[in-house]
Amino acid sequence: MKNVVVVGSQWGDEGKGKIVDWLSSQADIVVRFQGGHNAGHTLVIDEKVFKLRLLPSGIVRQGKISILGNGVVIDPWALLDEIKEIKKQGIDVNPENFMISESSSLILPFHQEMDEIREDAAGVSKIGTTRRGIGPCYEDKVGRRAIRVMDLRSESNLNDRLENVLQHHNAIRKGLKKKIFKKIDLKKRLLKIAPEILKFAQPVWLKLDLYKKERKKILYEGAQGILLDNDHGTYPYVTSSNTVPAMAATGSGSSPETIGYILGITKAYTTRVGSGPFPTELKNKIGENLGRRGKEFGTVTARKRRCGWFDGVLVRQTIKISGINGIALTKLDVLDDLDEIKMCIGYELDGKKLDYLPAVSEEQFKIKPIYQSFPGWKTKTQGIRILKDLPENAKKYIYALEDFVGAKVSSISTSPEREDTILIEDPFKI
Ligand code: GDP
Ligand code: IMO
Ligand code: MG
Repeated sequence: MKNVVVVGSQWGDEGKGKIVDWLSSQADIVVRFQGGHNAGHTLVIDEKVFKLRLLPSGIVRQGKISILGNGVVIDPWALLDEIKEIKKQGIDVNPENFMISESSSLILPFHQEMDEIREDAAGVSKIGTTRRGIGPCYEDKVGRRAIRVMDLRSESNLNDRLENVLQHHNAIRKGLKKKIFKKIDLKKRLLKIAPEILKFAQPVWLKLDLYKKERKKILYEGAQGILLDNDHGTYPYVTSSNTVPAMAATGSGSSPETIGYILGITKAYTTRVGSGPFPTELKNKIGENLGRRGKEFGTVTARKRRCGWFDGVLVRQTIKISGINGIALTKLDVLDDLDEIKMCIGYELDGKKLDYLPAVSEEQFKIKPIYQSFPGWKTKTQGIRILKDLPENAKKYIYALEDFVGAKVSSISTSPEREDTILIEDPFKI
């Protein structure tokens, strides 16, 4: 039996949280491997809603172990707040069911402020980040200045690490005429929460190696989507981590061999939150209708998500880049009342046809989608759990979609509820 990695195949918010929660009944361990509290994963279980940002979506099931790998950037105060919040909903989070990598980088207050300063200064060319400090923290990680979870263990070590990182940040802040961060204040704040954070800290790579030997089943949970990947996405309108499934190995300390089946969560239409090119965006009544029916508001920032038709060219591309083996198609029910449904099957740029997304941002903004049209089904698919109960036109749309993108639809989600999901092929059993 294989392990499974779940990734978003579009620009995030595809419904990864719902599918990870649904699949986690079969897993022993759920591991996040990149991103931070820019993610917002919503689970609905018997009408009870759980909104997760940093905590893996396995946390709501008893008897599962949830892990944040070294590739995740952790705002320690945000993590403690989230644990407190979910405890109020009756979910216990303790060192037996939750651990974080001692090598994860910490998001500190100056990261979050720098994210805001840059976004505010960028005006119309802003990225539209979640303003959580994700980018500045990853920059410090790559720049070898980051404070990591393990640095909280010794005061003298923390002192040296803070000296180093503040030298860099305070020089920039002085230039920007912003207040200087005092090492002593930050150290005090960090040492105050250190015991609460350190009780979850583990050498995650070693734990995962043990679990592998015990033949435990691991579910790797991606955040964001492949079009937000720092290398393969719509750069510069991307996040600051790699979101491709290969990152599951790097971001947790596992061998690529342990990853197993790659499940790409794919919305039956397209959404994007923040700035950047979006060839199939619908700035009209149809787009508004998708947003209303799909409740397309961000979990993290409450921003309205931009909506558009399904872009087959983009998903075909992300499938090729990332090696997605199968698709979990989500939010099919949102299309229920449409007369006509369109799918993008190519682009046009200055009179020339293209069958992939050009790499240059300027061209990505300029390209025009070429559509194939499908008749709507105009009946309720919401809550359907068996494939044969889907209307014929819905099946035709799904088969055309899988044919075009080149990957099998292995499950279909028909509502936010955990069990409203059609299983076609079990990713753990392939
Ligand atoms: P994630 O970031 O990929 O985990 O996705 P989000 O949780 O941010 O956004 C997906 C939203 O759609 C959430 O509010 C889910 O509850 C909801 N959702 C998931 N699957 C379905 C579905 O099949 N139908 C409908 N109507 N809503 C869904
Ligand atoms: P989940 O896991 C959708 C977007 C932001 C912005 C860009 C960079 O819920 O799918 P960042 O704060 O990461 O520097 O912002 O990436 N973004 C997301 N969009 N879903 C997410 O996560 C996202 N996380 C970041 O809106 O455009
Ligand atoms: Mg989300």
